[in-house]
Formats: sequence, C-alpha cells, structure tokens
Amino acid sequence: MYRSHNCGELSASHIDTEVTLAGWVQKSRNKGFIVWVDLRDRYGITQLVFDEDRTPKEMMARAEELGREFVIQVKGKVIERASKNPNMATGDIEILVSELTILNESKLPPFTIEDNTDGGEELRMKYRYLDIRRNPVKNNLIFRHKVTQAVRNYLSTEGFIEVETPYLIKSTPEGARDFVVPSRMNEGQFYALPQSPQTFKQLLMVGGMDKYFQIVKCFRDEDLRADRQPEFTQIDCEMAFIDQEDILNAFEGLTRFLLKEINGVEVEKFPRLLYDDAMRLYGNDKPDIRFGMKFGELNAVAQHKDFNVFNAAELVVGIAVPGGNTYTRKEIDKLIEWVRRPQVGALGMVYCRYNDDGSYKSSVDKFYDQEDLAKWAEATGAQPGDLICVLSGDKHKVRAQLSALRMELAERLGLRNPKEFAPLWVMDFPLLEWDEDTKRYHAMHHPFTSPKPGQLDLLKTNPGEVKANAYDLVLNGNEIGGGSIRIHDKETQALMFEYLGFTEAEAKAQFGFLMDAFQYGAPPHGGLAFGLDRLVAILGGQETIRDFIAFPKNNNGRDVMIDAPAKIDEAQLKELSLKLDLKA
Ligand code: AMO
Repeated sequence: MYRSHNCGELSASHIDTEVTLAGWVQKSRNKGFIVWVDLRDRYGITQLVFDEDRTPKEMMARAEELGREFVIQVKGKVIERASKNPNMATGDIEILVSELTILNESKLPPFTIEDNTDGGEELRMKYRYLDIRRNPVKNNLIFRHKVTQAVRNYLSTEGFIEVETPYLIKSTPEGARDFVVPSRMNEGQFYALPQSPQTFKQLLMVGGMDKYFQIVKCFRDEDLRADRQPEFTQIDCEMAFIDQEDILNAFEGLTRFLLKEINGVEVEKFPRLLYDDAMRLYGNDKPDIRFGMKFGELNAVAQHKDFNVFNAAELVVGIAVPGGNTYTRKEIDKLIEWVRRPQVGALGMVYCRYNDDGSYKSSVDKFYDQEDLAKWAEATGAQPGDLICVLSGDKHKVRAQLSALRMELAERLGLRNPKEFAPLWVMDFPLLEWDEDTKRYHAMHHPFTSPKPGQLDLLKTNPGEVKANAYDLVLNGNEIGGGSIRIHDKETQALMFEYLGFTEAEAKAQFGFLMDAFQYGAPPHGGLAFGLDRLVAILGGQETIRDFIAFPKNNNGRDVMIDAPAKIDEAQLKELSLKLDLKA
C-alpha cells in the first residue's frame, strides 16, 4: 500500500494515528536540529517533521538531502502542531516521520511549483506536466471534469444517447481549413479530420437515434486566439422531430442546469435577440449584456449640420459611458488614441460631456448646439455625468469599432464581473455571408442549415437578405454554442449547394452520401454544439481556454512540449506516397 491517506485529509481528529503518505516535496526548511517538509499531492499539502531528538541520525541526514519535487513515501504518526496554520486544511497537524522512502529523485524544476510561479507561459507549456502540479492548472482540469460529468449526467437523464463518430473522414465545411491525413493504403488520397461531426450526427438522425450527443474533439486549421485552439472539444447534440423552440428549450435547460450545479447561480429564461438587433444595438453578434452602453444611432440627429465627417458617413453611432464625464481631457485623448490603433481602426472619435447641471460640452461645439446634443443624449440613453463617445463611417466597420470600444470601457469600468452570468440567444442569423476574397457567398453557419420558412425563393433574388433557422448561445460576450434546424430533403439541399456555387458533380462528390440518405426517410431534425472549452472557461470565470486544456497548443499551433508538428522521415513519406518539394 503506497498510502493510507492523501495529503489533504488529515486533521486534529487523526492525532496519534499511524499513517502512510506519498507525494512530492513542495519545499523543506532546515533549522539544523529540525527539518520540516511540505509533502504535496493532488489533494493538498501535509507538513512532515524530522527532528534530532526523535528521528534516527541516518534518516535525519536523508531528510536534509530531500530536493524540491522528489517523490517520497513516509510512514509516521499524526501529531498536533505547536504552531497551527489556520490557512491550511491540514494546518492543525504534522506527521512525525518514522520511515522515509525516496521513490524517485527530481531534477530542480525549471520554475517554482507555486500558485504564483516564476515560470513564463512558454516555459510552463514546455513542462506542462509540472505546470499541472500547480493548483491553478490542476483545479481547472478538475473543474473541467466536473462540468463534463454534469453535462453527461444531464443529457443522459434527458434521454440523449452518446454515440462516437469517426475522426478519419472527409471534409465537413464549418468555415475553417481541414487538417488532412494521408492514407497509406489508398495512394494519393487523404482523410480530413472533422471540423465537427455535423454530417454524421445528421446521419444518426436518419438512423433513428432521435436524441444524440457526443463530447467530441474537433479539428480546425484556423488562426488562433484566446478562445480558439486547433483541436478543441464540442458537446455536440442533435434531435429529430423537433422545431427550433424544442432545441432552444432543451439546451437552455442544460445551460441553466450547469449554472446552478457548477456555479450555484439561478438564471431566468434566457433573453433572445435577433441577429439584426444584436448588430444594431451592440455592433456584435455575441454581445455581452451584463452591462448596458447600448448603441444609439445618430444619423437623424447628427447629419443636419455642416460637419462633413458625419455627413459623409453611412452610420453615426454613439454610446454613453456611465460616469465618463469624470475623464480628464488627457484621458479622453488616450481613448481617442486607443480607437485609432490599427487593431480597432477608427479614424477618430467625437465626444460629448453631459454635465451634472444638464448642459453639454462636445468636441464639435462649432457644429452642434445644446438642443442637438440633447438628442444625442436621448438616443444613447446618456445621463448627467456620462460621456457620449461617437464614431462614424462604414456601417460594418464602425459597428465593430464601437463594439471594441464598448468592451474595452466595460473592462476598465469593472462591468465584466466574471461571477455574473448573462446568457443570451442570438437568433435568425443570415443564411449566407459574402466573402470579399472569393467574391461569392458562403454559408454563414454551414450548408446544411435551413432558411427561414418561405425564404427559399429570396435566395434567387436577394441571397444576402435570407435569414436562417440558426441560433447562437452567447454567455458573457462569448459564443459558447451554435446550431440550426437542418435541411432534411434532397431537393432543398441540392438547391443550397447550387446557390453556394457547387456544381452538381462537386456536391455529389463531397456530400452525395448525405443527399442519398435524405432519400430514405430523413426526419425533420436540428441541433447545436457547445464549445466545451469555452463553456468551462467562462463558468470558471475566465476567457482563455488554454488554461482549461491539459495539453494545449501555443498561438502558432505548436505543442512545444512534444515538439509537434514535426518533420517525418523519407521512408514514411515514401510509404504514404508523398513527396515534399519545399522549394516549389
Ligand atoms: P460551430 O462552428 O458554431 O458549429 O461550433 C460550435 C461551437 O464550438 C466552439 N468552437 C471553438 N472552440 C474552440 N476553438 C475553436 N477553434 C472553435 N471553433 C468553434 C464555439 C462554437 O459556438 N456543427 C455545428 C453545430 C451545429 O450546427 O449543430 C458547429 O460546429 O463555442
């Protein structure tokens, strides 16, 4: 038996018990006549004591030699501590060691295994197994397990069946590039790793599985950000014989359950916002609604004077920053610099102070009088003491810029409280999205999404206007899930492919299997997938998903610990019938 107890469970009630513990040496303090060692395992830390009077000389010498992260096993008696540590679960006791076994030595770790470590991000990634010994990372992984477990329990109780789908498949269009795997047995041919199990879950509906879920790895070759990894996990779900309302209720139920179970938070029915309104009011399809600062469109009250910047703009739009009138001129100049950074890209910012006495002072007083500015205040919902910030320009660009400013100000004002949860459904996304690079429409969600009833004809005349039966679940300004009601008949699906610019042959080659299946009694169906990594991070009060993944990749898509991706040798290339010509 390696251990009778773990390092986090012994307390005063165990005094005089003989115990065996095993773990890592967190640190030791040597006072010459007495050595204290903090022994750590997954569960906590227990203090060991060796002293001249009670410990044999030989063991005392070995105790003095123990280095950080040595793996040891000790036997000993639980005794009361002379000076107790109320900040530690095991702070009332220590172990007077009678046997010490060194199970393994350790090199000095490259960073301290402490909550506040001295190791930088890259170093910690390289030695992730050491990083996992630290509480913040360890606790995040345990937290993730709790969430995953709760998801499985909830969905199983609701009658969902977890089915595994293959990883070696062919392209599923979710908008990113595929990771491909060469096939040795089929010369010159490749599998693609799934960007999602989308087509398979639809085939499971044709197969009659009715309510499916899977906690599943997905692979997307796309640019990485704090909330994106090249491989990530979805809670992928699909249901048959349902309408949109059923789906929203089912997964609102799951989210509400998790908020209660994991965070102890009760949330009312989730608000719903149309995509168009989300863009108009927040400039963003995943608005953080924990705070206000809704957009006020000002074209009608700002384009009637001689201020050409506004007159020439497609959209003039502002937000009221609560209490922002306390900003000094210098602080406002800094804010203007901030919106002009290339990452935001605004050309400038007009502002208007709303004074406590009800008067206004704007940076464009030359053009606008008090009556005009009062209308700006009304449109942005400004109160005395606020600062109105106004941007103008191309509609899409200016909305994105003001949205970035809104989030930045909310962050600075402490309005993004990670303990508060504000879920939101964003509904009726456009079916198609114009791609400037390829000069054609792409499915905004994916090509299996059905248009809103009655809008199929609009596809021919005004494709950009067609809305889809598609919805996203947003939590605290993050898209944690998305889904849609699917097309379930061959004709409509074929038409969709046609509108998306696939020739009949291309559609058949890529998705013939799905259209074939649709000819054998495909039930109406729809579903959604949560991004598990994002969900876990946000429930955990954070937004960087890397911190909740055991072995994440860095921003260049590399695993710096195992050093992947890596070259493969000539023989392996040959076996796969691959030839690399890097110069070409
Ligand atoms: P979608 O592409 O919206 O939908 O993905 C669903 C959810 O997965 C998460 N997500 C990611 N998380 C981390 N890293 C990434 N690179 C990444 N990409 C996406 C997001 C997102 O909301 N098959 C459809 C679902 C459906 O229609 O049922 C799909 O994959 O949280």
